[in-house]
Amino acid sequence: MTTTHQRPAIEVAGLRKEYGKHVVLDGVDFHVVRGEIYSLLGPNGAGKTTTVNILSTLIKPDAGTARVAGVDVLRRPAAARSRFALTGQYASVDAFQTGRENLVMMASLNHLDGAARRTRVDELLDAFDLGEAANRKVAGYSGGMRRRLDLAISLVASPEVLFLDEPTTGLDPRSRSQLWSLVAGLAANGTTILLTTQYLDEAERLADRVGVIDGGRIVATGTPDQLKSEVSGDHIVFSFGAPGDVERAAALGRGRPDLDVDADALTVRMPSTDAVADIRSFLAQTAAHDIQVTDIAIVGPTLDDVFLTLTGTSAAQRAAADKSITDKKEKAA
Ligand SMILES: Nc1ncnc2c1ncn2[C@@H]1O[C@H](COP(=O)(O)OP(=O)(O)O)[C@@H](O)[C@H]1O
Ligand SMILES: [Mg+2]
Repeated sequence: MTTTHQRPAIEVAGLRKEYGKHVVLDGVDFHVVRGEIYSLLGPNGAGKTTTVNILSTLIKPDAGTARVAGVDVLRRPAAARSRFALTGQYASVDAFQTGRENLVMMASLNHLDGAARRTRVDELLDAFDLGEAANRKVAGYSGGMRRRLDLAISLVASPEVLFLDEPTTGLDPRSRSQLWSLVAGLAANGTTILLTTQYLDEAERLADRVGVIDGGRIVATGTPDQLKSEVSGDHIVFSFGAPGDVERAAALGRGRPDLDVDADALTVRMPSTDAVADIRSFLAQTAAHDIQVTDIAIVGPTLDDVFLTLTGTSAAQRAAADKSITDKKEKAA
């Protein structure tokens, strides 16, 4: 008899981790379906790397369970390790070897020899656009090339599950989008991917589902579209040609305390759930007072809006707070 029931590729329940009094994971639950890209989206310090480190058997939680490809990572870490690969935020390649040498070394560690090894290495060099650089030392590679090589190395053994911890942090836009295509291609071929990121656009481009993580808890889960629509609506940005026009337009909108006036940018920003109606009525008012609107744009919610709505603190405020803590530490040192 065949069973139609398939376990999710990743199952996490009640994960807790504390360092002294600091609760880093406060009961994390989520699952990832086979072949899915699931993104853990959250600011610095949210607990993303800690979660990935537990799943990849590098550290142990204080409580909770985790399974990867059906294998309990806490009870059977060695068995679990043969089912997944990890690519971290910091590329872990050997800079003094060439790209090809790095891949050959990893292939040998995975018991690939002779022609099979050569074929796999060539395949990966080709797929990751590293053919031309294959025989150069990694020390001379760009950040994007290193990240691609790191990804290729983690795929030597064709893992079922891939953990990508902030794979594009620090990359230039072109390398980012190249990596995005590669990751999307891996998922299309059936690899299950857990991807952590701080960037909503990255989650939006790649993820089937997103778990927003903050302070060691998953605070929201859904498809990128669901999250954005639940979290906040669109904004309409009206632009003006002169400071006087912005002031007069803002005065017209006095009845709406949610208007955000930017005198430097010469814009008025209006939250909206019905953009057509709001644009029509605002334009009728400005026209009646002879105020010229020079541009209109409808913009979706940003990562900052998501965090602001879900957690009450914006990402920008957090970054500022982080920086002031860092500055104080540096002064104290
Ligand atoms: N070994 C550790 N000892 C003490 N605190 C830690 C340790 N590792 C992580 N933390 C803390 O746990 C929190 C979550 O860290 P991390 O999982 O790296 O977050 P993220 O990857 O989302 O930026 C942070 O506040 C971090 O300082
Ligand atoms: Mg991290």
